[in-house]
This record gives sequence, C-alpha cells and structure tokens, in this order.
Amino acid sequence: MDKIQLYEEIFRRKSVRKYNLRPLSNDVLAEIREFSESAKPLDNSIRYEFSFLHTADVSKLLSVKAPHYICFYSEKKGNYLMNAGFILQQVNLYLSARGLGSCWLGMAKPLKQKTVMKNDMEFVIMLAFGNANEPLHRTNPLEFRRKSLAAISSSSFDFLEPVRLAPSAVNSQPWFFSENKDEIVVSREKLNALKAPLYGRVNQIDIGIAVCHLWLSLEHRNKSILFDFTEAPVPDGYEFMAKVKIGSK
Ligand SMILES: Cc1cc2nc3c(=O)[nH]c(=O)nc-3n(C[C@H](O)[C@H](O)[C@H](O)COP(=O)(O)O)c2cc1C
Repeated sequence: MDKIQLYEEIFRRKSVRKYNLRPLSNDVLAEIREFSESAKPLDNSIRYEFSFLHTADVSKLLSVKAPHYICFYSEKKGNYLMNAGFILQQVNLYLSARGLGSCWLGMAKPLKQKTVMKNDMEFVIMLAFGNANEPLHRTNPLEFRRKSLAAISSSSFDFLEPVRLAPSAVNSQPWFFSENKDEIVVSREKLNALKAPLYGRVNQIDIGIAVCHLWLSLEHRNKSILFDFTEAPVPDGYEFMAKVKIGSK
C-alpha cells in the first residue's frame, strides 16, 4: 500500500470499538505483519518489535474486546514514545484502508505471564483490530470532533488540516505547530501535576501520531521532510518535541 492511500484514509478513519470476534485468516494476518515491518520509523536508531496477540492474551480490564491486538515493544531510548506513535499510526491507517477496524489502547496491557517485555524491549502500547461490528469509516468530515486550526497553530499552514484530524488519547489533541525561521516546530501542551502522571506518556505517543499525519500531508504535496530533535523556542505553556524542515523533492 502506498503513502497516497494512507493519506486518503486520514479523512475517514475512526476508532472502532465493536468487533466480530472471529479471527482473521493467517494470510490476512501475514499481510498486516508485513506492512507493519515495512512502516517508516521516525528515528532509525531506536530498536522496536511487534507482537500479535489474541483476545485471551490481553487483560480484560480497560480494553476493547477484539480478535487481535498488535503490541509495540521498544528500546527505551530518546523519542521512543513519539517513534511508537509515528509507526503504529501508519498501521492504524493501513488497517482502515484495507477494510479492518482498529483502536489505539493506551491503558490495556498484555497479560503478565505472556509478554510485558520482549528481547529486552519494553511494551509501549497496542492497537486492537479485526472485522468491525459497527460502521468502519466516517462518511462526513464534520463527524470529526477536533480543535480548530487556529487553536493548534500560530500560522495558517495549508498542510495542517490532515494533522488536525489525527487521533489522540482521550481526544486531547495536545499538539501545537509554530514557525521558527524556515522550520515548523512541534510542541506539546504542558500538563499540570495532576494530569502529568496520567497522560505524560500517551501524549508523547499522540505527538508521534500527529507527526505521521504531517509527514503524509507533506508527501502528498510532494515535499521532502527532515526531522530534527534539537531544541527550539516554543510558545508559553508548551514543551518542545520536534522540528520539521520542509524542502521540495
Ligand atoms: C495513544 C492513544 C491511546 C488511546 N487509548 C484508548 C483507550 O484506552 N480506549 C479507547 O476506547 N480509546 C482509546 N483511544 C482512542 C481515542 O479515544 C480516539 O482516537 C479519539 O477519541 C479520537 O477519535 P477517533 O479515533 O474516532 O478519531 C486512544 C487513542 C490514542 C491515540
């Protein structure tokens, strides 16, 4: 599946929470694995792996019941949470494009005796997926409940609309985009002491998801994109996450 198909999926994807629990065929699962392995990372230096689990392998508490779950494991290093969001969002869009439902699960865990660690890597997050038992796609862009472009950016960049539509934990949309010289600066809302322990981790995954949509949006406009993680000034109340340099192809 190419980047254009993933880009187009941004405008109709949604979280699916009701599933037909019949497992998908091995052939379909093999294709999903193959796509996942081929997804582009945000940071090539971070090791990561996937693991595919079934309904019985995931704690029932706080999770959506689905026939399959894709778990993301990562070396705990640098921007590994953003990297997880960037990679798994490609899988989220891919599943939607091939007619399967999926839902990010920020609280669910693999059952302890199974796989909380894998090859020294930490479990980061999972996506539930399978055949949907509810409408799979949005049919109207007005169905997206999202902040306005003005609320997430200090400049009127035309390529931010697909980024605005990105999913986030509890739909918090913690991202902000500003300009610094010829670069876009991506920052994240600072959390108060009450919210930080709850959302500090998933909000970094959210930023990776938004940056994935930004990458697909710029690819769609035939622009090249270079990520840089050296700090730049950010607006009050936000913390620095990434800089993005845009060029022509
Ligand atoms: C990192 C992350 C964690 C999430 N965790 C959960 C979860 O534990 N349970 C759930 O039902 N939805 C979860 N969601 C789904 C969000 O609630 C959903 O993406 C958001 O409300 C926007 O809706 P949409 O995905 O339908 O566009 C999560 C989303 C993200 C990005």
